[in-house]
Amino acid sequence: MSIRIINCKTEYMVNPLGLDTAVPRLFWQLESERPGTVQAAYRILVGHSREELDREEGTAWDSGITSSGDSAHIGYGGKPLEAEAVYIWKVKVWDGEGRESEWSEPALWTMGLLDRGAWRGKWIGRKAEPGVQLQPPPYLRKSFKLRGGIRRAVAYATALGIYELQVNGHRVGDRFAPGWTDYDKRVQYQTYDITDLLKAGGNAVGVILGDGWYSGTVGFLGKSVYGQRPFFLLQLNIDYEDGSRESIATDGTWRTMRGPIAYSDMIQGEAYDSRLELGDWSTAEYGDEAWDKPDVRAGYNGLIVAMVEPPVRITQTVKPVSVRKTAAGSYIFDMGQNMVGWTEVRASGAWGTRITLSHAEMLSPDGSLYLDNLRKAVQQDHYVMNGEGEERYEPHFTFHGFRYVEVTGFPGVPGLDDVTGKVIHSDTPSAGKLETSDEMVNKLYSNITWGQRGNFLSVPTDCPQRDERLGWTGDAQIFARTASYNMDVSRFFTKYVWDMIDCQQPSGAFTDVAPDAGWIRHKMWNTRLNWFAPDNSGWGDAGVIIPWTLYLMYGDIRVLERHYDAMARWVQYLKQNSDGLIRPDYANYADWLSIGADTPNEVLATAYFAYSAKLLSRIAGVLGKREDERTYDELHAAVADAFRGAFVDGSGRIHGDTQTVYVLALQFGLLTEQLRNKAIDRLVADIRGRGNRLSTGFLGVGYLLPALTDNGHTEVAYDLLTQEEFPSWMYSIKHGATTIWERWDGWTEEKGFQTPSMNSFNHYSLGSVGEWMYRYMAGIEADPASPGFKHAIIRPRPGGRLTWVKASYESIYGTISTEWQMEPNGVFKLQVSIPANTTADVYVPGEAALVNGAEPGISPIPGGKQDGCSLFRLGSGRYVFERIQAGIPHCY
Ligand code: BGC
Repeated sequence: MSIRIINCKTEYMVNPLGLDTAVPRLFWQLESERPGTVQAAYRILVGHSREELDREEGTAWDSGITSSGDSAHIGYGGKPLEAEAVYIWKVKVWDGEGRESEWSEPALWTMGLLDRGAWRGKWIGRKAEPGVQLQPPPYLRKSFKLRGGIRRAVAYATALGIYELQVNGHRVGDRFAPGWTDYDKRVQYQTYDITDLLKAGGNAVGVILGDGWYSGTVGFLGKSVYGQRPFFLLQLNIDYEDGSRESIATDGTWRTMRGPIAYSDMIQGEAYDSRLELGDWSTAEYGDEAWDKPDVRAGYNGLIVAMVEPPVRITQTVKPVSVRKTAAGSYIFDMGQNMVGWTEVRASGAWGTRITLSHAEMLSPDGSLYLDNLRKAVQQDHYVMNGEGEERYEPHFTFHGFRYVEVTGFPGVPGLDDVTGKVIHSDTPSAGKLETSDEMVNKLYSNITWGQRGNFLSVPTDCPQRDERLGWTGDAQIFARTASYNMDVSRFFTKYVWDMIDCQQPSGAFTDVAPDAGWIRHKMWNTRLNWFAPDNSGWGDAGVIIPWTLYLMYGDIRVLERHYDAMARWVQYLKQNSDGLIRPDYANYADWLSIGADTPNEVLATAYFAYSAKLLSRIAGVLGKREDERTYDELHAAVADAFRGAFVDGSGRIHGDTQTVYVLALQFGLLTEQLRNKAIDRLVADIRGRGNRLSTGFLGVGYLLPALTDNGHTEVAYDLLTQEEFPSWMYSIKHGATTIWERWDGWTEEKGFQTPSMNSFNHYSLGSVGEWMYRYMAGIEADPASPGFKHAIIRPRPGGRLTWVKASYESIYGTISTEWQMEPNGVFKLQVSIPANTTADVYVPGEAALVNGAEPGISPIPGGKQDGCSLFRLGSGRYVFERIQAGIPHCY
């Protein structure tokens, strides 16, 4: 039985191009039929060609046989890496008994431009058209001749704006590159290998340049937040077989023209006149005599860094489920799913026919599109036909949040095949699967993942439809754990942490949104006569919570090291801006959108302060900073003490007496043992008193079910999960929701739509219950002592009306899965699969035995019992357990 090595990755990616880190980290997975497989040693070879590796040479690095069980985050340890070089690597491992694997398939990475001086191009754009508010995206092009014998050609590109690159008429790259960053501080560049697209003789490269977040509309913060108009930067390096090199870069010799796109704006939609199309404008043969000289920008003073976030892509297409003609003669398509992206329309008609596609999430009672909740956003695309046969149109630099599409001006009667939904988001690979015996719970899970798909677009945004779409830090932190079960968000959140760092205030405060995009200025201006909160508890704390989540889920220590000082400044800031460790009551979002319960700001803020201190202490511990670990631990204890002194009375009542105050006090370790019991009783009494209903808002909701389950009330957690009466998750599902709503009362039977100024139907925050579904319902839990699921804790909590749950999670070591069934005769069965080179503690409710699975993978736990569960310590393999004696279904 052999060990195979699979899924070799560099910096979490398969064969990434253009890294700029000096020490890339390598990852691989082991696969073996043999239970209990562990890695005892590895050898890595890194060279510049396959042939070298075939000869078992690592000219860049030969790690030698290294005794280590680590197969993730192995820092490159060879010769200094050279800019633009290609590195090919492979690895082999030995298990605990000296068995040797085959070499892995070779994997590669390339380095990017490491020195600012290597960028020889200039930032180019096109002068604005006078008097035009929404400018047409410029087209830019350059033709050039190349010799034969091209060995390798690599394009490095970026924009202050967003770009669509073409080489010799072929589209290169993804959507919305280079992504959203604080452009005043940094911009990411993308690397493309375009060797196959170039040829000896004439070539051309072209780009369409959109305003994007740089100069287009950003949420409600207006237009031109970072700059007046977009600019593009490209460096194309061509290496010939003979060792010589040629570079094509953006400069004043390029040509520019306006094209068929009249405007394309994230928030205001697009207008496209196909009669103005430019033909084969990105080919060498194209005559650009009539084109203008570009406008050259003086320079750019921010950082130009390699792309950290995953690219934005169309990941799925959606077919409408129905179409209906309106009284006014338009057609309304139902996509069957609230989605984010745009629609492609197909039509044949006369020259000059104008088709308009309008998008909305809901329908008004009269069947028309419900547009009120979009505020100032215009989710409309206009297309003017050229009349030449079948035409297809989709927009370029805009996106919409919608379920319904109204098509006006369509020539003839459109069929279901004439409209196609395109789903776009940051392409974070899918990581989790979850299914249960309960259709409504499955729908809830589906709605959670659609919320993530819809809102993870370069940054984690709050909503995709109205004029907002900002990277609200509070929403991101409460959903981060759920998000990382659903999809591989390692790089997505690594980049987002940079966004938070880039706008950390000189005081140490982390901001409410990241990138800040001028929100702080806006907020100060709007509240200039009043006082405004310089931070918001539960929002700013994302600066500590999200790095910690990356550590827990991926074992990523680098993110902790890199941002430790920033996190420490945040905690320091909280301390300095407290009175006797009690935080002020200004946190003006409070437990945002809670229902029928107001949590006092100062209680909430002090609780989160304690939590940030606690996490920072653990982070310091991970980094071996023993003194800091103690200091912040003591700070946590002192804040908890102050919290009890200020807010908890003798009867255990916490000021505010809301579900959220008890949940946070329990989960953030703020109570003594005795007070814990009282808090639990009060929490349960409140829920029961409301007829098994919740009242939590954004900040409490993610901790609600975990707090109940951790404290012996799994049944109450299930009652809340499956509650169908208002307010509840299932209430929205009963009323047709296909995504998570922003508010519990977004639409109610009594009142219809909530106030339109704040009523998104695609907001993921209240979907943070997804975390509980994985960690508790399915029982796949991370272990902070051995993060990244090197050691997993498997502890499913059956309950409620569910008779089975099946879940899996793609950890960095491989797939972990659990499946439990509660059979009618009371027999409880659990199947577990643990990937090679990891271990797990498995808790099975009651008196349980292994009925199938490989014994060598199991080591008995002394005592073998905990909290009413049978406990097994496992190595890799597949196992089936059964509870032998009927009894309580849960273990706590
Ligand atoms: C956003 C939220 C955000 C909140 C702050 C809203 O407008 O949509 O998701 O967290 O403001 O209170």
